[in-house]
Amino acid sequence: MDKQIYFDTNRKSWDERVAIHRRDATKFYDVQKVLDGHDKLNAIEAAEIGDVRGLRVAHLQCHFGLDSICLARRGASVVGLDFSSAAVAEARALAGQLGVDARFVEGNVYDARGLLTGDFDMVYVTWGAINWLPDIAQWAKVVASLLKPGGRLYLAESHPTILSFDWIDGRIAPRFDWRTPRDRPIIEETANTYTGAADVLDNKTTYSWQHPLSDIVNGLIAAGLALFWLNEHAALTWPLFPNMTVSEDGLYRLPPDHVQLPLAFSLAARRM
Ligand SMILES: C[S@@+](CC[C@H](N)C(=O)[O-])C[C@H]1O[C@@H](n2cnc3c(N)ncnc32)[C@H](O)[C@@H]1O
Repeated sequence: MDKQIYFDTNRKSWDERVAIHRRDATKFYDVQKVLDGHDKLNAIEAAEIGDVRGLRVAHLQCHFGLDSICLARRGASVVGLDFSSAAVAEARALAGQLGVDARFVEGNVYDARGLLTGDFDMVYVTWGAINWLPDIAQWAKVVASLLKPGGRLYLAESHPTILSFDWIDGRIAPRFDWRTPRDRPIIEETANTYTGAADVLDNKTTYSWQHPLSDIVNGLIAAGLALFWLNEHAALTWPLFPNMTVSEDGLYRLPPDHVQLPLAFSLAARRM
């Protein structure tokens, strides 16, 4: 299948989800917190990104811009990019309303180098981004092309190990291969979006890909980045499975008596 069909199908799903996420009936996105002037970065990235004051940041797959706005409030000059026109429109409206230094560009992440002007001190990619991308080595090249020499990537994502599992018959069980071939994506039909909102989606089909940690890290190295550090976390920013519970830090974990699995990873890499 032509990969454009994958992108077009996914984009329709994202376009439809934006209004549901912006309404935020389940408070998954904490939109009101951002409207009230507060920061909503999760404990993981808040502890790891460091000082972004004065940095030019490219926020890839920025959705409707909440994290972009938080980065701008922390003193960065932010450009968010997303291929959903609905997401970009909502992000622009929010940033305009809140008067922050965040601009938004519509486009496919694979076209980011041609769409974004100048080089960046930081490329920022988090939570639920790279699983929508068929080619992780090509994504790494795009990231490298956006960074100035010495600039860094911050990436935080669900751990590939846990993404091989699903909730089946009341327990966490293996379901997906650890590596998804580019031309044989995971095809899912989902009636609702992941926020728990009751809205039933018209655009139910999505295509996604599992990328092993080694493909991600080696892709970045091949693209000319050097790893600063790589962290694995027994916590996640959202309840992937129904048995996960939220802690005081706002992160979700498996019950203490459950086998502990890596739930998230994060890394920082510098362009040589
Ligand atoms: C789960 S959201 C990411 C949320 C992100 N953590 C944030 O900052 O709010 C995934 C986003 O990726 C975007 N997306 C998916 N595939 C894309 C692609 N090929 N190019 C650009 N954006 C893409 C979707 O439109 C959606 O807004």
